Amino acid sequence: MTTTERPATGSEQLRSVIATELDRTRARTASLTDAVDDDDLVRQHSTLMSPLVWDLAHVGNQEELWLVRDVGGREPVRRDIDDLYDAFKQPRRDRPSLPLLPPAEARAYVRTVREKVYDLLDGIRFDDRKLVEDGFAFGMIVQHEQQHDETMLATHQLRAGAPVLDAPPPPEPRARVGGEVLVPAGPFTMGTSTDPWALDNERPAHTVDLPAYVIDAAPVTNGQYRAFVADGGYDESRWWSEAGWRHRVEAELSAPMHWRRDGDGWAYRRFGRWSPLRDDEPVVHVCWYEAEAYAAWAGKRLPSEAEWEKAARWDPATGRSRRYPWGDEDPTVEHANLNQRHLWPAPVGAYPAGASPLGVHQLIGDVWEWTSTTFRGHPGFVAFPYREYSEVFFGDEYRVLRGGSFGTDRSACRGTFRNWDYPIRRQIFSGFRCARDARPDEAHA
Ligand SMILES: [Fe+2]
Repeated sequence: MTTTERPATGSEQLRSVIATELDRTRARTASLTDAVDDDDLVRQHSTLMSPLVWDLAHVGNQEELWLVRDVGGREPVRRDIDDLYDAFKQPRRDRPSLPLLPPAEARAYVRTVREKVYDLLDGIRFDDRKLVEDGFAFGMIVQHEQQHDETMLATHQLRAGAPVLDAPPPPEPRARVGGEVLVPAGPFTMGTSTDPWALDNERPAHTVDLPAYVIDAAPVTNGQYRAFVADGGYDESRWWSEAGWRHRVEAELSAPMHWRRDGDGWAYRRFGRWSPLRDDEPVVHVCWYEAEAYAAWAGKRLPSEAEWEKAARWDPATGRSRRYPWGDEDPTVEHANLNQRHLWPAPVGAYPAGASPLGVHQLIGDVWEWTSTTFRGHPGFVAFPYREYSEVFFGDEYRVLRGGSFGTDRSACRGTFRNWDYPIRRQIFSGFRCARDARPDEAHA
């Protein structure tokens, strides 16, 4: 078994899974930070983002706090820099003016921390404390670094200057996919109590009973979204909520981020290169308000988070919820566009092997999907191992996104994984699909 999310119980095997995951993750961090020169690493490419060198040392600092000091009980490596790399104490816009570790020092720091982690991993017992059960603390740190790797990829997307990232294009469509899928009424299991590396906000498993609904078989595409733009979608307040319209006007939104007119059509900027907009790719870089307006224009609505998860995990044959739409096994290249293997969303129909039993495609990977739901704990939620991971974000301010994007690593992406952001954000790799209530004739068909 090579699954990372359900590590083997044998200590030796678990140690080796952890070491592999730490290495794999650090290689990605290195490729994202080695791709640019030192000037570029310390520069702030957008006030929404940190300088890349902040992310780098922050990743090392979290690893030091949790693994070296807490799990390992070792002496601090650099207690003096804790405040600098505390995301709660330092707002992103202020980070470039902090006395940050310069690139060479930041690299040396994360290396030192990692050496200590390998050292303590050697002698660790995984049954000592809840924090290390099944290697959880290590899994949490792997996921944390991978989440920052996605954030750093988003910084690269905002960066001006010559392109520095390269990747092969995603696969071409292998199936005809479109239209809507009916999800019959009834209960399903949402969340998980058993996935060892699932984070606190994915827990516990609980039953949610939903009325019948209809959900798009694929994310909304550039072609569909372009029709909304061409139809004057951004000029008519009737498609927008009050808050959405206010934001549309203030921020002068007229199309998704990174789009520009190109003759009669549109071009889309990806990591420093302009390409003609491809109609069959999922739309990306839209905020929640834009998604909400499009859905209203299309005569639909955004799915709730529970609707998204039932479409992704519920298996009508067994009644149980799977880890992923295709089953319980970890994603492969056949299932989903993940792991920064490609640098943009794959066209609709590119991953037939990744579809759910009901025939809903590309729920995992490609683009994070906005849902209509505000971020809250599942019933029975318990903060673990610290309130700042998710609990402090609960409330009406944030909307939940699901499914991961092309920039998300498989370790930080499963059928239960939850992401959240402000409804105005669109520098993230965010798209959406639509849903609607089932009509009585459909619900009882
Ligand atoms: Fe962080």
